[in-house]
Amino acid sequence: MELTLKIWRQAGPTAKGELVTYEVKDISPDMSFLEMLDVLNEQLIAQGTEPIAFDSDCREGICGMCGLMISGEAHGPERTTTCQLHMRSFRSGETITIEPWRANAFPVIRDLVVDRSAFDRIIQSGGYISVNTGAAPEAHSVPVPKEKADRAFDSAKCIGCGACVAACPNASGMLFLGAKVTHLGELPQGQPERGGRVVKMLETHDLEGFGGCTNIGECAAACPKEIPLDVISTLNADLRQAARGAL
Ligand code: SF4
Ligand code: FES
Repeated sequence: MELTLKIWRQAGPTAKGELVTYEVKDISPDMSFLEMLDVLNEQLIAQGTEPIAFDSDCREGICGMCGLMISGEAHGPERTTTCQLHMRSFRSGETITIEPWRANAFPVIRDLVVDRSAFDRIIQSGGYISVNTGAAPEAHSVPVPKEKADRAFDSAKCIGCGACVAACPNASGMLFLGAKVTHLGELPQGQPERGGRVVKMLETHDLEGFGGCTNIGECAAACPKEIPLDVISTLNADLRQAARGAL
């Protein structure tokens, strides 16, 4: 495959950025999107040009590091992470635009790399859960209904990639926050701090500069882990109950 790439280049957080055009050849349809960028970077290094900075770690769809806006879609045309996106999803001769996540809460560090530590601060503000960390408890001593266990596990699949924020016109982090609140709120172990946790995490979400949810749904459509929109309903319900002192 041969491709034309328009890639966002920005030397640092306060530098002016611009889209720069590159041509790449000999791209296999079986390469991942990041492997295609590796080929381009080898080409740039051989030419004595600064390679393109982009984030990745596991390259297995687990860590959430690799998010890119690809031709206007978070993680590109497939519902997966950028590292699990393959070049067979594109046509030879195509022009692909590659940009970093665009959100005030995710400032650009360099080129395609953004600072997503705002997500870490939201999680930190939720604090700890009060569980006895002594010897492993007997498995049946805390019964958890299957539907609640399933919903908790499904919510815990969120990898903090930030695609929901990048896809949302309000740059809201409510799908991420809803997933975090729901995965603890469904379990008995998450009950003692449930009300305080949702209030503190939402306060941090707003202070970090994420926008509010207006029920557009782009977040859930872009989420590679298929976190459903109803975690935001759970978040709002918990918040209402906490405000009434019922949690
Ligand atoms: S909710 Fe989905 S899109 Fe948002 S951070 Fe979690 S995994 Fe990524
Ligand atoms: S590099 Fe870990 S999810 Fe893509």
